[in-house]
Order: sequence, then C-alpha cells, then structure tokens
Amino acid sequence: MVFSQNGKFCSQFHHDHKAFHLGNQANVYSVMALVNKGVRYTDQVQDILDRFSQGNAPFVAQMFLEQIPDLKAQLEKGIDVIEFGAGRGRLSATLAQQFPNSRFVASEVVPNLVEANKERWKSIPNISFSLDDVCSIPDVPEKHFDWVFCCDVIHDLPDPLEALQGIKRMLRKPYGLLTFVDMATSGSPLADRGDMAVATFYTLGTFFCIPESYQRENSLALGPCCGSQTLTNLAQNAGFQVKFIKVEDCSGLFICKCTS
Ligand SMILES: C[S@@+](CC[C@H](N)C(=O)[O-])C[C@H]1O[C@@H](n2cnc3c(N)ncnc32)[C@H](O)[C@@H]1O
Repeated sequence: MVFSQNGKFCSQFHHDHKAFHLGNQANVYSVMALVNKGVRYTDQVQDILDRFSQGNAPFVAQMFLEQIPDLKAQLEKGIDVIEFGAGRGRLSATLAQQFPNSRFVASEVVPNLVEANKERWKSIPNISFSLDDVCSIPDVPEKHFDWVFCCDVIHDLPDPLEALQGIKRMLRKPYGLLTFVDMATSGSPLADRGDMAVATFYTLGTFFCIPESYQRENSLALGPCCGSQTLTNLAQNAGFQVKFIKVEDCSGLFICKCTS
C-alpha cells in the first residue's frame, strides 16, 4: 500500500476493514472460513482497494513522474506500457489519460476484473486489457514493453522471482524499465515493534496477502511485511539494478533497470 498522506490512508483502510469485516464476531469467523478455503481477493476487497485508489492513483502517478528521470519525456514521446495486477485499473487509466501518445495495457490474472475494466475504461482510446499470470510469462514473450509497473502486487505473488525474471524478458531495450510500489518495512517484527502501521499490515497480510499468494502450493508467501531488502534482493537476483526510494512511513518505490 502507499500512504496518500501521512498515516491517513492507513487509518482509513483500517477503519473500513474493521467496519467491513470485523464488525461482529460472526464476521471474524466468516473471514476465517473463507481464508481456510483458500479464497482469493473478493470483489469487495477490490472495491475497497479501488476506493483508496481514487486519491492514491494520482499520487502514485505523480510520484513515478517525479522520481523516475526521463519517464515523462518517454511517455510524451510514446512508449508501450503494461501494468500487472492492475486491480480495477485506475492507475493505468490515470496515466493513459495523461499521456495519449503512449499505449497502456492494464493486465490482471482475474478474468472478471479484465472484463469489468474493458467496460469501465472503454472511453480511453490508448488503453487495452489483458489476462496474464505474471508468474508465467513465456520464455519468449509475444509482446515487449518499454515500461512495466505494478503497485502492491509483488509481495502477493507465489513466485516473485519468476515474475521478475519474466518481466525482465518482456522489457524492450534500450529504455526497458520496471518500477514497482510495495510495502517497505524493515522485514523484522522486532525492529518494527511499536509501529502500528506495520502491525496493521502484519494482520492484513495474514488474512489477505498470504492466502492470495497460495496460488501455488510452494508459494514463497512473502506477505506485505517481508521488508524492502528482501524485495530489493529478489529484483537484483532477477538481473535488475535496483534503486529503492522510501515513499512514506512504510511503503517504497523500487526502480529497476536491466543490468544486461
Ligand atoms: C493488493 S491487489 C493490488 C491491486 C492494484 N494494483 C491496486 O494497487 O489497487 C494485488 C493484485 O494482484 C493481482 N495478482 C495476484 N496474483 C497475480 C498473478 N499471479 N499475476 C498477476 N496479477 C496477480 C490480484 O488479482 C490483485 O488485483
């Protein structure tokens, strides 16, 4: 998650989840029953994320443009861009509207989301939609992109290293850029002791992110509090040179360029 303003996003998120899921004890048991059955993010969770993205998508788009040298010029010139795990698609749609010369793909692994996004954003001419599992990018990708990005996705994946290696194969040289936004904690529960924002994400991660990552039995099951160093190491192991920028209290931007 990215905090749109100091802590505000987190407390709002906390509040909504409390209202939505934890209003009474029966709801706690319902959530646990769903998790036990291995249920993935529901439509309702995507709706909550989408509501946050109303304020957050412009913030993240602006952050990309401010923090990544040259990106604005490339987007104005016209490049091919794909977002993996786009959810309800607002971030891609925001950027597509801002940069009409570039071509955007909002990709999701959930078929219903892809169909809903097609309808939702049909008035934007330079955005298309595709169904992809980012952990299963072919050895020889059909399409290549100048810029790949994702927001709050890498820690949810069963095999983030495979995903990052696949993304690297998709990148078109010379620009070839991956950026991802993710939680950026210390990775140590002891070091983060007393930080209530991180504590909240340990809880949310247990109920949402870890079950979501069990798309494969051998999931790495990172969860949102795996730490910025773990995410940096994964991207480096996939062959990227990584610049990490702390964004707000516990989220960060990972700017990844191919080393070869
Ligand atoms: C926490 S949500 C973030 C959604 C959106 N990016 C946002 O910031 O609101 C994680 C997203 O990753 C997607 N996802 C999970 N596993 C995936 C996979 N294997 N390939 C592609 N996307 C995946 C989920 O469907 C979900 O929409």
